[in-house]
Amino acid sequence: MKALILAGGAGTRLRPITHTSAKQLVPVANKPILFYGIEAMVAAGIVEIGVIVGDTRDEVMAALGDGSTWGATITFIPQDAPLGLAHCVLIAADFLGDDDFVMYLGDNLLEQDLAAFVKAFESERDSVDPPSAQILLKRVPDPHRFGIAELDDAGNVVRLVEKPADPPTDLALVGVYLFDSSILDAVRAIAPSPRGELEITDAIQWLVDQGKRVRQEELTGWWIDTGKLTPLLEANRLLLEKIETRVDGTVDDASVLDGRVVVEAGATVTNSTLRGPLVIGAGTVIEDSFVGPFSAVGNDCVVRQSEIEHSVIMDGSTIRDIPRLEDSLIGKDVVVSRTQVRPRALRLMVGDHCQIDVE
Ligand code: TTP
Repeated sequence: MKALILAGGAGTRLRPITHTSAKQLVPVANKPILFYGIEAMVAAGIVEIGVIVGDTRDEVMAALGDGSTWGATITFIPQDAPLGLAHCVLIAADFLGDDDFVMYLGDNLLEQDLAAFVKAFESERDSVDPPSAQILLKRVPDPHRFGIAELDDAGNVVRLVEKPADPPTDLALVGVYLFDSSILDAVRAIAPSPRGELEITDAIQWLVDQGKRVRQEELTGWWIDTGKLTPLLEANRLLLEKIETRVDGTVDDASVLDGRVVVEAGATVTNSTLRGPLVIGAGTVIEDSFVGPFSAVGNDCVVRQSEIEHSVIMDGSTIRDIPRLEDSLIGKDVVVSRTQVRPRALRLMVGDHCQIDVE
């Protein structure tokens, strides 16, 4: 069993961050989203991993290296343009060979571990009617926004529809799929959709139409497609819910730590209140400030005379004299500061290397 992780794409819904950075490398709870996917594969026993990379390939390749950090071997597969999820399978044909594989969307996060999902597919592969594919489904309140599956009485998939105006069910496709090598025939057989992409739903529908069995399982736990600001902050919140207190940095006597708080080595906290759950990255300085629940402040940041809550601040950024910053995503090496006293809350999404002076 191999894994194919998709870390290319355009990332239009997460601009301006994606003008300069890969959305899969945005940190949640101070760890890049993509690392959670790699860890999920390795935990499921899959160590041969192909990663599709697009315009942000340099950054993704530098972050993952050869995979040895995770005990995995990573093969990078460049995609010239984001031509669809099924196109990713097409260009990965050499890497995949005849092997079964998990396809995983690199900007998705799941609470459930994938070992049981993979094992169920592997054990059924030896049965008299082996599945050619297996999808993971989640009931959603707004099915018209997703790829939706229709099932027969035996629970097998009979039809897939992409963003239907009149949804036949509320079972949305989650960003994890298992395939045998017949999906390669499928992606070669289908034509691009009206939006110009080779759709994975069309490829799976092709398998169904060829009489292949497509198995499904309903997801337990949460699933988040982090491709937009609100779900990204929600993922940050859900992952911070799971942290345990650890203080490796320096906290002075005038500071108060309340709830589950991580302060990484080399960070200093002076005359401040940290109310968890939250994480403060290595080398970061927090001075005369309040950092509230569900905040993740990256490495080498400065927070001075400010109040932050429910926000992700990426590495190297400075927040200075800001009475309240909430529900925000701040890119790398950003400065947000204020020159006049006018206490009001800021909600920002700021790309890398920006300077914002609030007057
Ligand atoms: P999407 O989020 O569906 O697409 P996108 O990255 O182009 O984003 P947006 O809609 O905001 O412009 O992609 C899901 C994942 O698959 C994501 O990690 C990017 C990756 N991907 C590729 O690697 N190649 C592709 O051709 C596509 C469409 C997506």
